[in-house]
Amino acid sequence: MNKDPRSEHNELSGNGLFENSMPRRDFLSKSAKLAAAAAVAPLLAAEQARAAVTRAVDDIGRGELGLVGTDHVGLTVPNIGEAIAWFQDVMGASAPLTFGPFSDPTGTFMQDLLGVDPRAVVDQITMLRIGHSANIELFQYEAPDQNHTHPRNSDWAGHHIAFYVTDIDAAVAYMESKGVQKFLGPFPVTSGPASGQSINYFKTPFGTYIEFITYPKGMAYQVPSVKPLWSPKLNGLDSVATKVPGLLGIDHIGITVPDVVAAAAWFENVLGFINPLTFGPFRDDTGTFMQDLLDVDPRAVVDQIRMVRGGNGPNVELFQYEAPDQSHTFRKNSDYGGKHIAFYVRNIDKAVEFMQSKGVEKLLGPFAVTSGPAAGQTINYFRAPFGTFIELISYPHGMAYQTTAPILLWNPRDNHP
Ligand SMILES: [Fe+2]
Ligand SMILES: [Fe+2]
Repeated sequence: MNKDPRSEHNELSGNGLFENSMPRRDFLSKSAKLAAAAAVAPLLAAEQARAAVTRAVDDIGRGELGLVGTDHVGLTVPNIGEAIAWFQDVMGASAPLTFGPFSDPTGTFMQDLLGVDPRAVVDQITMLRIGHSANIELFQYEAPDQNHTHPRNSDWAGHHIAFYVTDIDAAVAYMESKGVQKFLGPFPVTSGPASGQSINYFKTPFGTYIEFITYPKGMAYQVPSVKPLWSPKLNGLDSVATKVPGLLGIDHIGITVPDVVAAAAWFENVLGFINPLTFGPFRDDTGTFMQDLLDVDPRAVVDQIRMVRGGNGPNVELFQYEAPDQSHTFRKNSDYGGKHIAFYVRNIDKAVEFMQSKGVEKLLGPFAVTSGPAAGQTINYFRAPFGTFIELISYPHGMAYQTTAPILLWNPRDNHP
């Protein structure tokens, strides 16, 4: 049985649970140095102007959870310095928030909070901003049981991050000029409810799959009787906080699940999402199309894809695959290729209570971070039945890093409907 969340409203400072060996001044100087690398003054003014615009009032897919939208996607990478440098050099990311390390040498705090081995150590966490959509949270872990393989898109732990670009030919040419590993594309979908979109997959040197997507005139599913998916286009067509031409920000986070119908039902019934777009199957029984497009086994079959939306922010794209080499293991946050999706909620205590009323497996929390540059955020992890960790996050008064960083992370409360 889960305990009353209010009885375990923990704090990150002064309780001896965390071996927090880096003093706050070091965190701040590190994050300030990273942030200073980006030329951001004009952007800041634009952000302030944008924040002055009336906040979006839209209830699509918010449900009873009070969900605002996707805040960030978390990724565990082998070497966080390498990953930060890649996102900065290639994609023009800014890195305004770095914190950690975290560990608990004697107790079960890490297991309780994050679902990892009790002796797992978070070396560093860095939050990246790219464009005007959800952020990316990079983790570097050390753990006794750490899995060092990278999941393929067809594995149950498979995932990708898709960025909307206004001119996919220009954006793809840019990635090629940077020597990024590219798969078949740009590939236009020309039939079915997803027709109107063009995509191209890439793989980063640290194993993460990136997709570029564009749908300048929308997609075929968009008829007046259907509530649409969210799009970063709603936050404007100006390309900010990126080096990729025409990149607007994260459009969706793709995850592969064992049963796509069950996973979509979970998003709808528990989180209050909508599912306006369902398409597939896709297969190539004789050629290499699936391998060329998606870097999966040539005989891999996509049974179905469902795009779900919650609030205003990146959508979640759910895949069900069959593949000869499919791995059925789920990843922990401490594994390479570990991931979580974090949704912003306005009232985390109420939201956590709601999740518990739905019987969702809850980890320790709500947990308030009260020291260091991330102070001000309160989080709680949950384990969804399809193996993905879902985080709820809230920072109603902002976070400490904001007092020194010249560029701020994207705030989902600034999303337009
Ligand atoms: Fe997170
Ligand atoms: Fe995708």
